[in-house]
Amino acid sequence: MSNHLTLRQFAAAIFFVSIPLASIATADEGQELFLAFDVQAKKVVSEMTLEEKVGQMCQPDQAFLKEPSDIGKYFLGSLLSGGGSGPKDKAKYTLEGWTDMVDGYQREALKTRLGIPLLYGVDAVHGHNNIPGAVIFPHNIGLGCTRNSQLVEQISRVTAKEVRATGINWDFAPCVAVPRDERWGRTYEGFSESPDVVKVLGAASTRGLQGGSLSDPLSVAACAKHFIGDGGTAYRSAERDGKLGMDQGDTRCDEETLRRVHLPGYLTTLREGVATVMPSYSSWNGQKCTGRKDLLTDLLKTELGFNGFLISDYNAIDQLAPDPKNPDYKTCIELAINAGIDMVMLTDKYQDYCRMLPELVREGRVPLSRIDDAVIRILRVKYAMGLMDKDRSPLADRTLHDTVGSDPHRAVARQAVRESLVLLKNDHGILPLSKSTQRIHVAGVGGNDLGMQCGGWTTDWQGSMGNHVPGGTTLLDAIKQTVSQDTHVTYSADGSGAENADVGVVVIGEKPYAEFMGDSIELSLDAEQLQTLANMKEANIPLVVVLLSGRPVILGDMLDSSTALIAAWLPGSEGQGVADVLFGDFKPTGKLSFSWPKSVAQLPLNLDDDDAAPLYPFGFGLTYE
Ligand code: GLC
Repeated sequence: MSNHLTLRQFAAAIFFVSIPLASIATADEGQELFLAFDVQAKKVVSEMTLEEKVGQMCQPDQAFLKEPSDIGKYFLGSLLSGGGSGPKDKAKYTLEGWTDMVDGYQREALKTRLGIPLLYGVDAVHGHNNIPGAVIFPHNIGLGCTRNSQLVEQISRVTAKEVRATGINWDFAPCVAVPRDERWGRTYEGFSESPDVVKVLGAASTRGLQGGSLSDPLSVAACAKHFIGDGGTAYRSAERDGKLGMDQGDTRCDEETLRRVHLPGYLTTLREGVATVMPSYSSWNGQKCTGRKDLLTDLLKTELGFNGFLISDYNAIDQLAPDPKNPDYKTCIELAINAGIDMVMLTDKYQDYCRMLPELVREGRVPLSRIDDAVIRILRVKYAMGLMDKDRSPLADRTLHDTVGSDPHRAVARQAVRESLVLLKNDHGILPLSKSTQRIHVAGVGGNDLGMQCGGWTTDWQGSMGNHVPGGTTLLDAIKQTVSQDTHVTYSADGSGAENADVGVVVIGEKPYAEFMGDSIELSLDAEQLQTLANMKEANIPLVVVLLSGRPVILGDMLDSSTALIAAWLPGSEGQGVADVLFGDFKPTGKLSFSWPKSVAQLPLNLDDDDAAPLYPFGFGLTYE
């Protein structure tokens, strides 16, 4: 890094500014816990063969294992389930089936000479979102609007418990991205465009996931991601299948901006003892983060004192090939490991990886000291989690199954929904609605679709329309459950038939997407959604628009067409939380965690822009009189 303030000085400066003097601490404080295991870790490493060491540094997606016995054959130290990567037999895509799958893999690892248990990773980014029946929380953009760190910590604690119920012990969360342009498809995975909001809620989530101690059987290892600047990529800087977008693109800024905007979430999560960090697919000034020693080693490990381990993103090392037309995988491995990656997340190439990395060491292209450092870091985390404790079983505690999707867990999610909603408009004080309204017409496919209510990363990677979220409550059902028995609630997906109703509740928004599939040039709703609103306008009744979206979208005439407008983001399974606000059982308290643009021409548009003239500013949110 340049002859700038060292990160330790910068870290101290950050804390000096934002945290009272008494609690000043550098990131080291939360990272010292891992050093306590160095003696044991080094002893185990001294007994390992090179192949056993490399196996610990390899994390295949379980769906790509040719045989479960490959876990022992290649001494694998970790597996993951990417979005939706569950039991192959769909009949076993259940809580029980997932638990059996994970325990089965654990048993394979325990058969090896050293019997080192697996770290099993999953993206539980708004609850244990792969598992049928799990509670689905609002995505981070909604949690950012709560500004409630205790609630975020509680959500993560509940999530950790539901994850542990399946025998999984590592969550690729929190995402501490600072999305700076809403055209990015991953905006909703970020808490806010403000690093000050991200650093507080990222720390809270880490506390919830890792608990008071990583060795607590209800804790999981957390993963701060994606290091660094994933949310700052330039518009249309990413090329995918001939299509330009933003995800995995290039963040172009000087070092001061990178530290000021995109680093705070790492400082606070490190201080909370986050066990793992995931580098970003994206680049900083043209160089892929996955291969940047200056970021991964010099900045994160040396200056910031990170003592856990780095897990590369899904096949991200493949993008390091010097010549994109020549996928020289061996060189990709060399560049990634020498840059500071400690464990590689991959799919079908795990056998190549486990053959090539020992070759690279024997050829002198990767120092053995780098391998030993990586394995010591991985074993530190496994020791801290109690995984190396011979009298503790790494298998699932199935007594936790009763807690998955339980009423107490759903109550936490319902409160999160209530606090995440942002009231943008409320003409004539139409809200809250009366529970004894004579007739309410609900419209919009999103009003009766849990898949749309939950968004991406639900049941599978991209999420999908449809009611595939057992135990959830749609907005339509929530409204029906809330009003008096004399109220007549009618519904149409397309907005027809609303004539003579006293009020219309129009639920429109974005259909599920994840990652680059959500990159958007126009940030507008699709024709079907806009037609629903137009059809409702024909009824000439007051309209309450409930917007389901992963980000601020361009409202256009939605604003004039609505009497009231609520940003509900992606609220998850507990639609009752929306009804609680609609009917006044909870007054809206949400405050925008993103600036809301009038048009895409304004983007990127953020709270710290001098000339910012948003439709609604960061921090905006109405309530009831
Ligand atoms: C994805 C995402 C990352 C996720 C990983 C494993 O591509 O970039 O956030 O944790 O792969 O699913």
